[in-house]
Order: sequence, then structure tokens, then C-alpha cells
Amino acid sequence: MRAHRRRHIAAPGLGLLALLLCGCSKNDAATGAPAIGLEPPGTALYQENCSACHDAENLELAKKPPKLTGLFQKPTLPSGAPATDDQVKKTILDGRGIMPPFRQTLDDEQVNELLKYLHTR
Ligand code: HEC
Repeated sequence: MRAHRRRHIAAPGLGLLALLLCGCSKNDAATGAPAIGLEPPGTALYQENCSACHDAENLELAKKPPKLTGLFQKPTLPSGAPATDDQVKKTILDGRGIMPPFRQTLDDEQVNELLKYLHTR
């Protein structure tokens, strides 16, 4: 149970979340979000770049990627580093352990969008 859902659910995301929770149909175009409709912004970026590791159950990795839900609701990240936007941004850009760096893959805007998305998980 998450005690307090952190603010910063992007306003459109909130409406979408409500829709999700009430199981309404998937074709609300109110936010004009591209193709993926209901998903908060950053979802596609997350799914393309992060999900394969972070939502995997059976990766044969020496170190399991931690789940990224409620990432900002604790004071520290799984590594013990402070759970701040800056720290997570650094992790994304520079990589960590066997996690690859995304500096060449994602631009600043995309990283910021991902951060916003991670706040909604
Ligand atoms: C190749 C698999 C892989 C991919 C792809 C990947 N990660 Fe990771 N990630 C890991 C692993 C493994 C760790 C644990 C690293 C460690 O602590 O040694 C990790 C750790 C993290 C952490 C915790 C850092 C900490 O300080 O505890 C965050 C946040 C994170 N990843 C975010 C992301 C985001 C956002 C993306 C997409 C842009 C992403 N990761 C893509 C494997 C991956």
C-alpha cells in the first residue's frame, strides 16, 4: 500500500489514471496523447528502453534489475543513492552496473519525460 501517492502525476495522467481505474474504454482522446491513448506520457519511452529489464522476471543476470514502482516514494533508490530526479537522471544517462547508459539513445526531453512517468508508477 502506498501511503501517499506523490504529487506530480502529470495532470493529463491523472485523468487517464482515473479512466484506467474505472475500467473505461480505451479511446478517450481528450489528452491528444499519441497512439497509446490511455498511457501517461513517457510510457512508450519506458516500454521501449527500460521495461525489458525492469519488468522481467527471468533474466539471468548477476544482479536483478529492481522494480521501478514507487521509486520516488522512499528516500533512497535500491542502491542507497538518494531518490531524486537528478540521481535517477544520472542513472539513465550513465548507466549503472550492467545497466547500459542511455546518453546516446535518449535526449534531454525524453529523459525528463521518463522521469515524469517514473513518478506515476
Ligand atoms: C539491460 C537491462 C537494463 C535496462 C535496459 C535498464 N536498466 Fe535500469 N537497472 C538495471 C540493473 C541491473 C540495475 C541495478 C544496477 C546496480 O545497482 O548494480 C538497474 C538500476 C536502475 C535504477 C536504480 C538505480 C539505483 O541507484 O538504485 C533505476 C532508477 C533505473 N535502473 C532506471 C532505468 C530506466 C529509467 C531505464 C530506461 C531508460 C533503465 N533503467 C533501463 C538494468 C537495466
